[in-house]
Amino acid sequence: MSKVYVTDLVLRDGHQSLIATRMQTADMLPICGKLDQVGFWSLEAWGGATFDACVRFLREDPWERLRKLRKALPNTRIQMLLRGQNLLGYRNYSDDVVRAFVQKSADNGVDVFRVFDAMNDLRNLRVSIEAVKAAGKHAEGTVSYTTSPVHDIPHFVELARGLAEMGCDTIAIKDMAGLLTPFTAYELVCAIREATNLPIHTHSHATSGLAHMTHLKAVEAGATIIDTCVGAFAEGASHPTTQSLVAALAGTVYDTGLSLPLIEEISAYFKEVRKKYWQFESEFTGTDTRVLINQVPGGMISNLANQLKEQGAIDRMDAVLEEIPRVREDLGYPPLVTPTSQIVGTQAALNVLTGARYKSITNEVKLYLQGRYGRAPGHVNEEVRKLAVGDLDITTCRPADLLPDELDKLRGEIDSLAKSDEDVLTYAMFPDLAKTWLQERAAGSLKPEPLLPQGPAQQEAAPRYAADEFKITLHGETYHIKLSGSGRSDAAQRPYFVSVDGVSEEVLVEPLNEVAVSAGGDSAPRKAAAAPSAPGQKPRPSHPGHVTAAMPGTIVDVLVSVGQRVKAGDGVLVIEAMKMENEVQAPIAGIVISIFAKKGDAVTPDMALVEIQPE
Ligand code: CO
Repeated sequence: MSKVYVTDLVLRDGHQSLIATRMQTADMLPICGKLDQVGFWSLEAWGGATFDACVRFLREDPWERLRKLRKALPNTRIQMLLRGQNLLGYRNYSDDVVRAFVQKSADNGVDVFRVFDAMNDLRNLRVSIEAVKAAGKHAEGTVSYTTSPVHDIPHFVELARGLAEMGCDTIAIKDMAGLLTPFTAYELVCAIREATNLPIHTHSHATSGLAHMTHLKAVEAGATIIDTCVGAFAEGASHPTTQSLVAALAGTVYDTGLSLPLIEEISAYFKEVRKKYWQFESEFTGTDTRVLINQVPGGMISNLANQLKEQGAIDRMDAVLEEIPRVREDLGYPPLVTPTSQIVGTQAALNVLTGARYKSITNEVKLYLQGRYGRAPGHVNEEVRKLAVGDLDITTCRPADLLPDELDKLRGEIDSLAKSDEDVLTYAMFPDLAKTWLQERAAGSLKPEPLLPQGPAQQEAAPRYAADEFKITLHGETYHIKLSGSGRSDAAQRPYFVSVDGVSEEVLVEPLNEVAVSAGGDSAPRKAAAAPSAPGQKPRPSHPGHVTAAMPGTIVDVLVSVGQRVKAGDGVLVIEAMKMENEVQAPIAGIVISIFAKKGDAVTPDMALVEIQPE
C-alpha cells in the first residue's frame, strides 16, 4: 500500500511563518496529549528560529522546551531542522561543537533531524549526518529547492544521491519559497526515488498558492511523507492545511488514516492561542504570488521589510527586491534560505542604500566569495569577487576543515554562568544574547516579552501604525526602545512594557500634572526646554575626513586608535546592520585624531564616528 504519512509543523514552522516564532511553551503543552494521539509521522518542534526566539523574546530555555515536549509527546517522533555545519546559528561551527550539539539534541528528545545546507554543499552536511547516525537517530538529508539557470533536476538528483551515500534514512525536498510547481515536483520525486530508493518527504510553503497541488503530485509520484500544518496556523507564508490534505487523500490508496475530528479539535485550540499573539501577525497571510517572479521567499520579504523600516528606508523596498536577484546571480545562485537569504538581502540593501553597487561589501559576502560558506552552486562574478577579496586565497576545502576544535574554549568563556553542556551550546549559538540570558537566569529576573491585551477595543486603542519604536539619545548614549504594551490607564502608576536594546523592562509612569490639549492645537503654556548638550555626543559629519556609516547599525569593533596613520580604504570600524557585519573604511589617508564611537554604540549615517586629518 502507498499510505501517506504526515508531519505537522504547528510547533515550529507554522508559528514561525505566521507570528514571528513567538508561541510560548505554555501554549503548546496543554494540547500535546491530543497531538500525540493523532498518529503523525512526526511533529516538527525545534529549529534555529524557535531556539533564537526562546532565548531572545520568550526568555525560555529552548532545551527545557524540548524536554517538556518530549515528555508530553511520548508516542510521536519529535523533528528538528538543523542547518548542517551552521547548526542553529549563522556561521560554520567546528566539528566538535557540531557533534556535541547533535548528541545533546538527541539526548533531550529529538528523533528526526532534517539537515540542510543553504549552499546544498554536501561537505557541510557530512559531520552532522554522521553525528545523527552515531546517536542512533533518524537522519533526513535535505535538498534545498530553488530555481536558477544552474538548478535542474539532474543537479538535485546528484545531491540526493550524495545524501543517500552518507547514510540518510529519508530525503526531504525543502521548498522554502513555494517555488516548486506540481509537475516539476512529480518529475523531481520520480527521479530522486529512482536514484536513491529512499522515502521522500516534501516540504512546500503555501506562499505562492501552489503547495497543495505540489504535495498531491508529489504523492502521486511516490512521496510518502508530507509536511502540513493544522488549519489555525496554515496557509499564506505557512503550509497547506493538514485537514485539507487528510480529506483529499481519504478513501484512496494514499489514505493517511488520521482522524479529521481530532485534528479539528486541535485546530480549534490553536485558533484561540493565535489570538493572543495578534501583535506579531505577519502582513503576508494570504497568497503572495510575487515570489514566482522575484523568487524572494515570503519569510524573507517580511523580514526585509522590518529591517528596512529600522533603517528608515522602507520606501526603497521595491528597489531592494529588484536588486536581490542580481546579487544572487553575482554570488553564483545560492538558494535563498538562512543564512544565504540574509547575506544576499543585506548586500542588496547596501547596494541600493549607498547608491552604488558593492561600494560597501559586508564581511559575510567577503567570506562567501572566499569560499568560507562552501561551494557556490554556479559561477560567481569574478569582478565582484576581486572587489570583495582582492588577491586573497580562495578556500576550496570544506570550510570547517579550517576550524580548530572550539568546545573547550567556549566552555571556558561561559564557565561561571553555564550550569550544563546545554547552556554552553546555547552560548555557542548566540554568544551575546545567551550571556545576558544566563545572567538574568542566575539573577532570577527572566521575564518574557509582554503580550499586548487581546480584544478589538484594545487593538483600536493601540493602533499598529502608531510609533511604538524609538531611538533615544540620553547623555550621549543611544538606546533602542520598543513599546510592547501598557497596563491600566486609571492606575496611579501606569506600567509600560518596553524593550530597551532588546531587553524587556517594565517602566512605571506616574503623571504629576496633566494639561488639557484641544484638538485644534496645544494651547496650554509650556516651558521652553533647551536640549541638553550631551557629553560624548557624536558630531555631524562636516568634512571628508569624517568617517560615517552607510546604514544605521551597531558598532561591533573599532579597528584604529588615536594617533594611528591610515591609508584611504583601510578598515576603521566594523558595524553590524541587518544582522551582517560591515567594515567601514577610511575615506582619506591621514592620522586618526578623534574617535567618537565605541563598541556597542548605535549609530546612524548622520554621525561622524572617527575623524581623520590629512597629513
Ligand atoms: Co519551512
